Amino acid sequence: MSDHGHGHSHGHSRDVDEGDPNGPRRTGKLHYHEEEVRALEAYPLIHKAPHLDLYADSDRKHPGRDVDLPLRTVQLHIGKLEPGQATNLHKHHNEAAIYIIEGSGHSEIQGERVPWEKGDFIYIPTMQWHTHVNSGSESVLYMGITNKRMLDWLGLDRKVEAGRHVPMEDVQKEIAAKRYSPYSHYSIDPKTGVRFGPEGFITHGD
Ligand SMILES: [Fe+2]
Repeated sequence: MSDHGHGHSHGHSRDVDEGDPNGPRRTGKLHYHEEEVRALEAYPLIHKAPHLDLYADSDRKHPGRDVDLPLRTVQLHIGKLEPGQATNLHKHHNEAAIYIIEGSGHSEIQGERVPWEKGDFIYIPTMQWHTHVNSGSESVLYMGITNKRMLDWLGLDRKVEAGRHVPMEDVQKEIAAKRYSPYSHYSIDPKTGVRFGPEGFITHGD
């Protein structure tokens, strides 16, 4: 401690310290008790028909947009790909699930071709290079579900575009090398239950 002496010489902390002597700051507890929990004010509670209000930008050449809901951990977006259109090859720290609302096509995820059609869910693992391609004959409409907002709170939301942030040649090498982290595996199998890590690593299940 410095020799300021009087304990409450720090202007701002004075208000906090002299509040409820049993308050959370005073007792140093990490979690709020049920009687301290309040409803969070958040708006809007509905975003009507975002698929009717899509736009392209210089980053993303095909129409899409975020769903404007005050979700704090999950980010939803909706996008459209016309026949022959593809998303830029990229990778990011967030994980993503893509739900196909209309149309058919395929994704290339770290070099693996994954065909999909209306009604399918696709998984995009953390930091794997991927692109989604409308290789069908009708428009593709999809919904993306990511944990971007949670990562953004933590300052960890990062996206890398092939050919822009990493030279195409290096991207191809990364895809060929794969180099999966043993800590990045997660699988759900009816026989083995939930598994983290490669086969035989850590298993949770019946
Ligand atoms: Fe992505």
